[in-house]
Amino acid sequence: MKKILIANFKMNKTDIETKEYILNLDEKLKGFKHQTKIVLCLPYTSLYLARQYEGDKFVFGAQNMHEEESGQFTGEISAKMLSEMNIKTVLIGHSERRKYFNETNEKINKKIKTALRYGFEIILCVGETRSQRNTGKIYVTLEKQIKEALSGIYENELKSIIIAYEPVWAIGTGNVADNNDVTKAVKEIKKIISHNYSDTAGRQAQIIYGGSLTSQNSTKIFKNEEIAGALVGGSSLDYKEFAKIILK
Ligand code: PGA
Repeated sequence: MKKILIANFKMNKTDIETKEYILNLDEKLKGFKHQTKIVLCLPYTSLYLARQYEGDKFVFGAQNMHEEESGQFTGEISAKMLSEMNIKTVLIGHSERRKYFNETNEKINKKIKTALRYGFEIILCVGETRSQRNTGKIYVTLEKQIKEALSGIYENELKSIIIAYEPVWAIGTGNVADNNDVTKAVKEIKKIISHNYSDTAGRQAQIIYGGSLTSQNSTKIFKNEEIAGALVGGSSLDYKEFAKIILK
């Protein structure tokens, strides 16, 4: 049973397009009962919409934030700025940030600590590349990413952190991960959390899946009781398709 669905718009949709999207999605969901928490991670230019549309239906999230409180970081956005805009959720460590903006686990760890101070719900993205997969390094990669990202984070803070398992080779490629592989990865992530914190923490860890999820393949993924939801990129851009995933 999915509990949370996160739309990651990435660098797509202008403000006008986003407003239209929200109204359309809202309309599309009218009259349907669902218990899924829907988080819309919009480009910064549209995040002010959170003040207008934040409510029972939608929660708004940022796709990134800077780890420092303020300062000489041209072009960056701080936790305080997001918080004041009614933003409740932030994606941290997305593989595109790791790849194109050189985000290291150390930097990700700092961002998590700052985000926790501001009371955000954090979506920590982890996942192996194709070559790490081909060389049998899936689990060592996940372990390193999680251990380093959560270094110095207390067990009671884990309730604010959702881990998104997003195999890099599955993102934006149309190659959704095999259900068995997702199950194995989720078990492994829980084991890593148990090992570093406690069995209870491992059991309670909230893990979602991301990577080429569509309305066609989502039923299979959501059948897995261990999966708390999904992070959806490409398929979230069309409100009709995203609505289908929500209503599955
Ligand atoms: P995708 O992106 O659904 O387009 O594969 C997922 C993500 O990057 O979070």
